[in-house]
Amino acid sequence: MAYERKEISIDEIRRQEGICAEIRDAVSAASEGRQLLAMVDTYGCQQNEADSEKIRGYLAEMGYGFTQDEFEADVIVVNTCAVREHAEMRVLGNVGQLNHSKKQRPGQMIAVCGCMVQQEHMAQKIKRSYPVVDLVFGPHELWRFPELLQKTMTGKKRVFATERCDGLVAEGMPSKRDGTVKAWLSIMYGCNNFCTYCVVPYVRGRERSRRPEDIVAEARQLVEAGYKDITLLGQNVNSYGKDLGGGTDFADLIRMINDIPGDFLIRFMTSHPKDATEKLFRTMAECKKCARQLHLPVQSGSDRVLRAMNRGYTSGEYLKKVELARSYMPELVITTDIIVGFPGETDDEFEDTVKLCDAVRYDAMFTFIYSKRVGTPAASMPDAATREDKQRRFDRLLDAANRVSAEKHAEYEGKTVRVLVDGETGKPEYNLSSRTNGGRLVHLKGDPKLIGQFIDVKITSSNTWALYGEVE
Ligand code: 5AD
Ligand code: SF4
Repeated sequence: MAYERKEISIDEIRRQEGICAEIRDAVSAASEGRQLLAMVDTYGCQQNEADSEKIRGYLAEMGYGFTQDEFEADVIVVNTCAVREHAEMRVLGNVGQLNHSKKQRPGQMIAVCGCMVQQEHMAQKIKRSYPVVDLVFGPHELWRFPELLQKTMTGKKRVFATERCDGLVAEGMPSKRDGTVKAWLSIMYGCNNFCTYCVVPYVRGRERSRRPEDIVAEARQLVEAGYKDITLLGQNVNSYGKDLGGGTDFADLIRMINDIPGDFLIRFMTSHPKDATEKLFRTMAECKKCARQLHLPVQSGSDRVLRAMNRGYTSGEYLKKVELARSYMPELVITTDIIVGFPGETDDEFEDTVKLCDAVRYDAMFTFIYSKRVGTPAASMPDAATREDKQRRFDRLLDAANRVSAEKHAEYEGKTVRVLVDGETGKPEYNLSSRTNGGRLVHLKGDPKLIGQFIDVKITSSNTWALYGEVE
């Protein structure tokens, strides 16, 4: 694929940080000592969460504090998702509501960024129908958010920055992370797979990997800062490094991070089944810090549908990979994504999906009803099934998935497991939340001082969604 890797120089990022300082001076002069506040609202996947942490990093350098109340905010950034129509509808509904806060605070700056607005028709829609929005920028422009915000603040016109782009790599952006225990670490951006239902390759561009030394340096900083649970992010982490040509593949990268001294866990998502190798499973098994958790989206159990989706594997090949992974790690927690009602999917083809799920027995499944995405090949495929047909299939699959999850969770009862305590639930009876090595949620009662610690817990009860335990 003809894609020329583009890197944003560190000088460019420093220039953006210089603009942050200019904005800080300008707004603090105008605010007469009042602490200015920003709100960043994030939709969609973990990559978007990670991007929002960068936006907050820049905003913090501009001197903003943070709020979740739109009526208090001087700047609002809505970071959007385009994967399904439902997420887009929620964004548009909520952005429409911002009329009220802007009326109360006429100087309020409203920005909408991320995957949704990288689609030409959505940028146009905002331009035409959402005058409340001052700035629109796509995922490829995130590194120059300060420059774009300054242009919006000082100019008289609304700013739209959503040029088509295959993507770039920018190192050295500031980041204000959400948590103190769990951290996201992007290792690559974009996707080359062009699954026929998916909009991601169109909005996030081609696959490009960060350099291993940059990733390892960031992981080391995270460990030194006390983070205990690091999730490596990419649309398809299994093709990490292919564009660098330097010989470091994803398994090698896991090993390099595993070698960093300290007590922490490495997780990753998402793995494409076609690129999941025996080397990866062997490396996971050999690396003590690598969590026994694999999110391996199958999307469908029907070979015809998988072909129409351009997934590059059959259900038989997928099952073999699952077996192989389990042969290296019998305790592996496996989760998946499934699309119900892909165009042309018949009842029999749907039953093949149910059969595959019965065969794998996933610990958890994320199921979605197919959503038509503008410009993707699947959008023009004939689709005879009705919304009711799809809903019926969806409900049936969800029931089956929930039953298996509940059974798998029940198997933990009476056992002692090691968990990482990661936060408070806000509920008195089980006030702490934690995760097993495999990523299963465990609610506990205990001292909040345990947050950030690995502890042993006895599982006393469970349901479909979570385990409940006592500190040993
Ligand atoms: N409709 C429904 N689900 C989708 N996904 C991706 N695109 C679509 C779509 N057009 C699901 C896939 C993917 C997950 C992140 O979202 O299952 O793995
Ligand atoms: Fe979309 Fe397929 Fe790429 Fe995942 S691998 S982001 S589903 S095109």
